[in-house]
Amino acid sequence: MITCPTVRKDLIRYHYNLSTVFYRLLWGPHIHHGLWSGDEPIAQAQIQLTQRLAQEAGVQPGDRILDVGCGMGGSTNHLARQFNCHATGITVSSLQAHWATWSARLRRLTDRANFLCQDVEQAEFEPNSFDVVWSIECTEHLFDKPTFFSRAARWVRPGGRIAICAWLAGDELKSETDRQQVFDVCEGFFCPSLGSAADYVDWLQSAGMEMTATYDWTDSVMRTWEICRDRIRRTGIRHLARLIDQDTVLFLDCFDTILNAYRTGAMRYGCFVAEKPTTSPD
Ligand SMILES: C[S@@+](CC[C@H](N)C(=O)[O-])C[C@H]1O[C@@H](n2cnc3c(N)ncnc32)[C@H](O)[C@@H]1O
Repeated sequence: MITCPTVRKDLIRYHYNLSTVFYRLLWGPHIHHGLWSGDEPIAQAQIQLTQRLAQEAGVQPGDRILDVGCGMGGSTNHLARQFNCHATGITVSSLQAHWATWSARLRRLTDRANFLCQDVEQAEFEPNSFDVVWSIECTEHLFDKPTFFSRAARWVRPGGRIAICAWLAGDELKSETDRQQVFDVCEGFFCPSLGSAADYVDWLQSAGMEMTATYDWTDSVMRTWEICRDRIRRTGIRHLARLIDQDTVLFLDCFDTILNAYRTGAMRYGCFVAEKPTTSPD
């Protein structure tokens, strides 16, 4: 695992309160990578990633889902609409929680989708209260990842699943350059640490979960950053960011860093699904 001690929770919250509008302009309502099989547009590739995770997690109509780090409610609203799930989204950003709530209202989903502005590392939920604890690209921001997974394992019912997509540090970082690339990504994208695929499997298993799927999707998601970088070059987004805040400019400039880290293998992109055994004492 690569750690970055300068990242603080208040900086993460500030970043998402300030930069969500940039994510909306660049990426649409989903703040996550796309999953490509051909040359689909990015919005479709993002839905493909969401659908694929839902398939891997075995999401069923009516499931109770906790969407950890829900952003603008992209997954939460999608799962509520497509699968008739009862989905709760949680985000550390008050702006995102309001945005997601309005988005659910516009789509007439308020009976099935609700949103909390809370730090998931402090949040409490009843044991066994969800069929699926779902998280796309949020666990990177958590400070104590093993504890998060053991708490999430309590929240999920026996037979329920934890389904995760996450940016990863490469399993074997061979050089100081590789480690520096991952560190730069952590710093630029406000991640206190990036775990490897082996770390994620270890955290889930140590929490009492049984792995049902582990995928490396790096090659199928990497194009996200080529598209975003081109969009920044073609549009005035960087100039707009300069008027607002220097950290947002640095964040936009980091898009090349992450692309390079994927290309060199210093970073990977993983999907993990694990099931809570039905014999669990919880
Ligand atoms: C890259 S965005 C992903 C958003 C969403 N999952 C999606 O795919 O559109 C990361 C999300 O994690 C949230 N987040 C970061 N740290 C968090 C924490 N401690 N508790 C709750 N949410 C957190 C951010 O507010 C943001 O919504």
